[in-house]
Amino acid sequence: MDVRTLLPCVLALLVNLYGLHGQTSPNIIELGSSITAGSNTSWRSPSGDYAFGFYPISGGLYLAGIWFDKIQAKTLVWTANRESPAEARSTVQLTAAGRLLLNYFNGTVQPIDSGVLASFGLMQDDGNFVLKDANSAHIWQSFDSPTDTILRGQGLATGQKLYSNSKGTIDYSTGNFMLEMQSFDGKLVLSAYRFADPGYWLIDTRGSLVFNLSGFMYLVNSSNDTVYSLTRNIPTPVEDYYHRATINDHGNFQQFVHHKNGSNWTLVWNAFDEPCTANSICGVYGMCSSPDNETQTCNCLPGHTPLDPDNVFKGCRPKTVMNYCAENSRDNFTVELIEDADFVSDTLGDLSHVDNVDMEECKKAIIDDCNSLAASWANSTCRKKRTPLVNAKKSVSTKGIKALIKVPIKVPINPDIPKPTNKKKFNSRAFLEIGSIITAILAFLFGVAAIYYNPAAQRFIKRNCVIFGNLETVVSHDHEVLSDFERFERMAMVGLWCINPDPILRPSMNKVVQMLEGTLEVGIPPLIHDQM
Ligand SMILES: *[C@@H]1O[C@H](CO)[C@@H](O)[C@H](O)[C@H]1NC(C)=O
Ligand SMILES: *[C@@H]1O[C@H](CO)[C@@H](O)[C@H](O)[C@H]1NC(C)=O
Ligand SMILES: *[C@@H]1O[C@H](CO)[C@@H](O)[C@H](O)[C@H]1NC(C)=O
Ligand SMILES: *[C@@H]1O[C@H](CO)[C@@H](O)[C@H](O)[C@H]1NC(C)=O
Ligand SMILES: *[C@@H]1O[C@H](CO)[C@@H](O)[C@H](O)[C@H]1NC(C)=O
Ligand SMILES: *[C@@H]1O[C@H](CO)[C@@H](O)[C@H](O)[C@H]1NC(C)=O
Ligand SMILES: *[C@@H]1O[C@H](CO)[C@@H](O)[C@H](O)[C@H]1NC(C)=O
Ligand SMILES: *[C@@H]1O[C@H](CO)[C@@H](O)[C@H](O)[C@H]1NC(C)=O
Ligand SMILES: *[C@@H]1O[C@H](CO)[C@@H](O)[C@H](O)[C@H]1NC(C)=O
Ligand SMILES: *[C@@H]1O[C@H](CO)[C@@H](O)[C@H](O)[C@H]1NC(C)=O
Repeated sequence: MDVRTLLPCVLALLVNLYGLHGQTSPNIIELGSSITAGSNTSWRSPSGDYAFGFYPISGGLYLAGIWFDKIQAKTLVWTANRESPAEARSTVQLTAAGRLLLNYFNGTVQPIDSGVLASFGLMQDDGNFVLKDANSAHIWQSFDSPTDTILRGQGLATGQKLYSNSKGTIDYSTGNFMLEMQSFDGKLVLSAYRFADPGYWLIDTRGSLVFNLSGFMYLVNSSNDTVYSLTRNIPTPVEDYYHRATINDHGNFQQFVHHKNGSNWTLVWNAFDEPCTANSICGVYGMCSSPDNETQTCNCLPGHTPLDPDNVFKGCRPKTVMNYCAENSRDNFTVELIEDADFVSDTLGDLSHVDNVDMEECKKAIIDDCNSLAASWANSTCRKKRTPLVNAKKSVSTKGIKALIKVPIKVPINPDIPKPTNKKKFNSRAFLEIGSIITAILAFLFGVAAIYYNPAAQRFIKRNCVIFGNLETVVSHDHEVLSDFERFERMAMVGLWCINPDPILRPSMNKVVQMLEGTLEVGIPPLIHDQM
């Protein structure tokens, strides 16, 4: 056959094929397709409501993910690389072999899929990106690995978690709060997981979370009966709205609707109303204040200064290291009073309490107890608090409570001690001393690691934190060592993070370096409840 007679036929076939793909199934992603960060290409759902592609964030970087594409806010609902945004010209590729890969421009390749080879991909109208095999069976879907948001048709099954962003639309990396459908007791719990927090909001009913197609969230038991309703009311008709439920950077779990022709997301349900409800919202030695019951701000407790001056949300540290158990130490501190505030205790409760005392007696009680840094007084009861103080609040629910905290009196620095210069001199004695302490602590850490993650020994955790709080006591006799105390404490914390049994919580090498340098905050590692 003459090739020339075949050509028009082939052309027609090509045009036809192109037309077919363009019109009848534009959402099918074929093997060999790719999208590039910084170009305007994306894989859109048939309705155009959702798009999969590179979502631009600050710093000229991109997140490979899924967003609401038709609204002005282009709200991101899922991302594959929240910890490591990609540079322009990075690609997402559904390879000829059937893998879904994120190729960073620097050459690093991060798999998005599970490793099973796909035959095609689909960006569906429900916001789910799905990979299917030749038999059209699901082999991977974005709905199975949610980040901070769930959509209609996407629930939270037992063991599934959502993690908040670090900072709204500024920093999409994993933040401090988690919503978990706990596998060990079936409860739905919000917690400040980085702070070994057992939770500040929960639904005490065994079930799994459903976000149904009518836009209602509720819990069902194993026979699919509704056992608890979250959403009470949503605007109708339901198809006129976009829907999402997100855990935000203030630790609240909220459901929103957005009219398809509207310009904003409207809150239809949230886990709690009162600001400052989330635990540890202002970090260690920070205080959450909400005098107006609407907004919330973070400040450091008296005598403390921000870890990161640009972001007081990250917590605070003492301005002066003080050994309250040293002889005559009471000449060197005062007790400050904060009205209408409290150091809210978690389920471990207070260190101890004294009944039938007035405020002055409460003050005296913590002055006399060198292991107690703070207390609260209300209704003639004095409650001594555990350290570290991670939960100071001043809001409508702490009205009438008086918070007391020990604050060192600023003492002049001993002139015999040379002021640290910019380029710190290497002090071998201090180095050896720190070195030996670190060695001892590392040995100790590995020893307790087994206990640390053993649910039967949860009480050790808090003691462990108390030990960290007391590290300064151990090294307080040497000023040089003290100046290195912060770095030392950080190393100990990083160590604990690195041996976390939940791999998702283990920091990357990048993060470890940042943590050790001090450019990244190091929280107290969480207690993993379900590692039975
Ligand atoms: C992407 O689209 C926007 C608006 O449609 C346009 O301003 C911009 O130049 C486009 N960028 C590229 C790289 O094509
Ligand atoms: C490439 O960039 C990503 C994102 O910033 C980073 O995680 C990765 O470590 C980099 N890889 C190399 C080889 O530098
Ligand atoms: C979703 O849940 C609500 C409330 O339980 C119910 O009225 C509605 O029929 C459900 N819709 C679907 C599609 O299941
Ligand atoms: C519960 O509902 C889901 C979704 O509608 C269904 O896939 C599942 O089979 C049901 N389970 C039972 C036990 O009815
Ligand atoms: C689920 O809840 C329904 C209604 O409360 C109850 O009748 C049913 O026994 C429960 N199923 C299981 C497996 O507990
Ligand atoms: C949005 O506005 C367009 C044009 O005014 C209209 O045709 C459409 O029905 C509206 N959509 C909804 C959901 O109200
Ligand atoms: C948000 O949109 C709703 C309609 O969906 C409208 O009633 C409301 O006024 C809007 N709010 C703001 C602040 O724009
Ligand atoms: C605080 O605000 C919430 C939500 O607006 C409200 O439900 C609650 O009653 C308020 N509390 C006080 C004491 O005003
Ligand atoms: C209290 O401060 C004085 C200096 O004013 C200092 O010499 C002394 O060591 C301090 N005592 C304690 C226990 O910190
Ligand atoms: C003090 O006691 C009164 C009366 O029992 C109670 O209403 C109030 O809530 C209590 N205050 C605090 C802060 O516990």
